[in-house]
Amino acid sequence: MEEDAEISEIRPSDSDYTLKREIIRCNNITKEFEIGEYVVLALDSISFEVYRGEFIVFQGPSGAGKSTLLSLLGGLDSPSKGEIFIEWVKISDLSEESMSVFRAGTIGFIFQNYNLISSLTAEENILFPMQLTGMEPSIQEQRVHMLLEKINLQERTEHLPFQLSSGEQQRVGIARAMANDPTIILADEPTANLDKRSSKIIAELFSDMSQEGKTIIIATHDDKLIEQANRVFTIEDGKIVAEKKQKEAPDFETIPIPTAYRKCPNCNKLILPGLKSCSFCGVVLPKKE
Ligand SMILES: Nc1ncnc2c1ncn2[C@@H]1O[C@H](COP(=O)(O)OP(=O)(O)OP(=O)(O)O)[C@@H](O)[C@H]1O
Ligand SMILES: [Mg+2]
Repeated sequence: MEEDAEISEIRPSDSDYTLKREIIRCNNITKEFEIGEYVVLALDSISFEVYRGEFIVFQGPSGAGKSTLLSLLGGLDSPSKGEIFIEWVKISDLSEESMSVFRAGTIGFIFQNYNLISSLTAEENILFPMQLTGMEPSIQEQRVHMLLEKINLQERTEHLPFQLSSGEQQRVGIARAMANDPTIILADEPTANLDKRSSKIIAELFSDMSQEGKTIIIATHDDKLIEQANRVFTIEDGKIVAEKKQKEAPDFETIPIPTAYRKCPNCNKLILPGLKSCSFCGVVLPKKE
């Protein structure tokens, strides 16, 4: 991640570099998996938008396409057809390299099986994404302590994942997802392997993230998470079959501009995470304080 990946790809199509109410838009996304001569239609022309600061739940039976959808939103895979926009960036067009730069500063991913690195301690797992984005070491130190406090694991910093309970591992997973202060949190059944008490702690952490203005998208069947959602989508056989609005999206003008986004000192346009120069005027950015 030393060099800017394909800056031209991370240019808005219009020159409107301001934050809009809509943060994610999916237009007719289809995902097919080919296995030998069989084609599995995992997502069948799905369209929806997500507003800044919303808490969105996707629910639906096993095999409905929930995990596939989250991995497309996180740019871990690309759609067979259709377009996905995050902010003004058409992520479905990004190269893998550009996507990884963009993702590191914009998206935090939380997994059902925690996916911690088994040879790293709790603290090192949380530090890892910060090291990838080249954050100043002193800021990394401050953030890791703040995050360990937030997940209430200050006493377990040196523990390896196998020395932590499932609930504690997922708390580390959440702190790791928050490491680079992402704008969007994607979580795939984050409480599915946890007991009631641990699930409740995780649900409270999601509530805190939501209060901070994060946009949250979760695939889950957990009532404690579902009750927090602004909207609940039901997905079946790769299609959205129902949408239930439980509360209004927050007033997006009250949501602060994400700390990872900067303004160009030359032209004042917003610059998305991961870039070392302004994608509008090309000026090389000073190193982040
Ligand atoms: N890498 C893959 N290769 C082939 N088929 C896949 C792949 N990933 C998913 N599928 C298929 O796509 C469909 C949707 O799978 P997906 O994992 O998205 O469902 P899900 O809603 O997350 O299910 P669950 O609730 O069990 O996690 C399934 O039929 C699955 O078998
Ligand atoms: Mg799944």
